[in-house]
Amino acid sequence: MDRKLVILGAQWGDEGKGKIVDLLSEGYDVTVRYQGGSNAGHTVIVNGEKFILHLLPTGILHPHVVGVIAQGMVVDLEVLDRELENLKSKGIDYEGRLLISDRAHLVMPYHKLLDKLFERKGGIGTTLRGIGPAYMFKFGRKGIRLSDLDDEGRFRALLEENTAFVKDLCEKVFCERYDLDVEETLERTLRLYEKYKALVTDVSQYLLRSSGSILFEGAQGTMLDVDMGTYPYVTSSNSSALGLSNGTGLSPKFFSDAYLLGVAKAYTTRVGGGPFPTELKGEEGNKLRDLGGEYGSTTGRPRRCGWLDLVALRYAVQINSFDGLIITKLDVLDSFEEIKVCVAYEHGGERIEHFPASLKILQEVRPVYRTLRGWLRSTKGIKEIKDLPPEAKDYIRFIEDFVGVPVIMLSTGPKREEFVWLRDRIKVSSL
Ligand code: IMP
Repeated sequence: MDRKLVILGAQWGDEGKGKIVDLLSEGYDVTVRYQGGSNAGHTVIVNGEKFILHLLPTGILHPHVVGVIAQGMVVDLEVLDRELENLKSKGIDYEGRLLISDRAHLVMPYHKLLDKLFERKGGIGTTLRGIGPAYMFKFGRKGIRLSDLDDEGRFRALLEENTAFVKDLCEKVFCERYDLDVEETLERTLRLYEKYKALVTDVSQYLLRSSGSILFEGAQGTMLDVDMGTYPYVTSSNSSALGLSNGTGLSPKFFSDAYLLGVAKAYTTRVGGGPFPTELKGEEGNKLRDLGGEYGSTTGRPRRCGWLDLVALRYAVQINSFDGLIITKLDVLDSFEEIKVCVAYEHGGERIEHFPASLKILQEVRPVYRTLRGWLRSTKGIKEIKDLPPEAKDYIRFIEDFVGVPVIMLSTGPKREEFVWLRDRIKVSSL
């Protein structure tokens, strides 16, 4: 087996993984997405053209890469169809190089409806893509897998049972009219399945037999992981390294020689509700949002912005066993005279060094900051270490010392070519 690389979000998602995966997947044979669904929005700019991929692995944009949608994902066939039609219209031929797991669960129209209704009653600010309800049905053993679509009788029975259940829930609990039609959903789902059936296969077997290099592309971020994140303000899958094994159907042993990289912004953002200790609500937060263009790529919502939280980042490094970090959007900090980083939390007069599980504590902590000097020079588009201002190098060194792993690359702009290798290039990429 050749190289294995895992790229994960190290914060609350939106770290710029799309660009990084796009860049690095050039040197890989296969790219695998293995958790989440169309709640993701991986943005890539290729030859001046912007692509936002929600469901497809980002590597698919390279003509030699096989893209894999593994079993841990929840697949909305409508979104899949739209994304593939869009690729086709832009001249990207995916024929023979996209595989979808027959064990992956479907996001059905009633999941999206439930997402909306749950959000209306004390929601957490989801993307409304039906992700939480699809995983609820999966773990409640009422999900529909792609392989179920081969047996129309079974599919119909599951659909009727689930529809009756959701209809009751809607009408009796939420007092809402339910107007989704079983026949229409059945017919539409089977039509789309027929269109893409040839892509559906046992993906775990494919990966086991593959002799090529594989890049595993995480979606969302570690702090949104259903077990390790800021629960319940999380997504419904394991978006940390914990999801690798169940998301692909491969033993942890398979990943023992993998190289794991976390992607983090040079500051912090999150979208939706939930604790965010370093959030800046005033002018500085607005400045970060404006300079960073911090609006959700799936929902368009303004992102909450704040200083880099090194307590959270070190926690992400530890639980994922990251070998290194990639820092994105350094240039957004270019015009700040002083830059703060959170090095601990303060709670009830006590200093907290480790990221706490308790939602209550997380909502109450105050960040303890260290102030570093800004560089007040543009780092946009820089491609060589020697061109980085000394204060920017100090900033990176401070992060490395604090979290205990090296920063191996900096992304200095949205375009493919805007990055600087700091180290470990050979281990990760042939670029
Ligand atoms: P869901 O995944 O749509 O259920 O949303 C749960 C939480 O995760 C919400 O706070 C979303 O804003 C957040 N979330 C989900 N996907 C992403 C993503 O790709 N980037 C950033 N936040 C996300």
